[in-house]
Amino acid sequence: MVDHAERQFRSIFGRAPDVLVRAPGRINLIGEHVDYLGGLVMPAAIDRAIIAAAGPIAEPVVRVWTELSGQKGAPILISLDDLTPRQGSDSWQNYLIGVLAVMRDAGVKLPGFEVALTADLPTGAGLSSSAALETATALIVEALTEVSQEPIKRALLCQKAEHDYAGVPCGIMDQLAVGACVAGHALMIDCRDLSLTPVPIPEGIAIVVADSRVKHALGDGEYRKRREDCEAAATMLGVPALRDATLAQVNAAAESLGDRLFRRARHAVTEIARVTEFAASLSGEDFSSAGRLMRASHDSLRDDFEVSCPELDALVEAAYDFGPERGLIGSRMTGGGFGGSTVSLVREDAKDAFMEHLKIAFSKKFTHPASFFTTRAADGARILRPN
Ligand code: GLA
Repeated sequence: MVDHAERQFRSIFGRAPDVLVRAPGRINLIGEHVDYLGGLVMPAAIDRAIIAAAGPIAEPVVRVWTELSGQKGAPILISLDDLTPRQGSDSWQNYLIGVLAVMRDAGVKLPGFEVALTADLPTGAGLSSSAALETATALIVEALTEVSQEPIKRALLCQKAEHDYAGVPCGIMDQLAVGACVAGHALMIDCRDLSLTPVPIPEGIAIVVADSRVKHALGDGEYRKRREDCEAAATMLGVPALRDATLAQVNAAAESLGDRLFRRARHAVTEIARVTEFAASLSGEDFSSAGRLMRASHDSLRDDFEVSCPELDALVEAAYDFGPERGLIGSRMTGGGFGGSTVSLVREDAKDAFMEHLKIAFSKKFTHPASFFTTRAADGARILRPN
């Protein structure tokens, strides 16, 4: 992948890149839709990434060539004097433009540069390609200037870009996962105090991603509605955020919350509790408990939070139908939902049979194919050159 990025840069811009950056995607093992509630989450960066090859130019412009899905073509030009959000089919540029604008506003003197963006990370699959693009942009600017930021500071900056330029009121999970994960580990993030605890993923376990190929778009408003529901529920419960509520409190307030807000709040408090339990189960290699928690998480996202879809439900059902006796540990939707991917933990020696099983089950129900790959927990984003 790195060689490919370098070759693409050479062929398009006619010189060698001075900068190479790798920004991975992520899966989330558990702790879904709770990052913006100050909750706990447990993502892992994966071995699929955006690789950016870049070099400085004298004019105050950024020339971008990309092979990210759906965005191929001639290099596009972004003037550093016009970092306003783009509309329609150009809106993918907002991840880049947003980061540049937020860095400029933070006092960074932006360099002009040209960049080739290559990736083996699918976009719109719930695997945080947006956070990867944001983080890659920040790292290119850092590599071309004297600026060097801590991963947490960089993640907050990228989150601000996503809020203000892409219009998605996301939490901090994706940007921190992309930026701060450690190979071989999931990263438990306390999204309130931003403390990070790497939790080793035991040897012999494969991570399988099943992309439903239902394009998820969080900008369409449902994500924002979930966040608003949770804020309304917290206000009614008299707590700063649902992180501070207990299940007993939520149950006691069922009537005043009404059905929808009750279910949203129940998802939040039970999901946050599941993360702590899951971390202990994984560390103690209690795989049946880990699997039960992943399943409970999926059910809660489907029924209480209503962010799943038939394709994701079918993939998860097929996984549990494969079952622990054949090597499944656990499976659930991962990321924002409304399409995107499921993540499954499977015994290493069972992963091929597992993927085949899912593929057949999916093809019996849907006319379009899902896509599958195995991955491993990788390091967070890095500047590869200069090193
Ligand atoms: C998206 C957001 C994250 C998080 C997840 C759901 O990926 O970007 O901040 O809220 O959805 O867990």
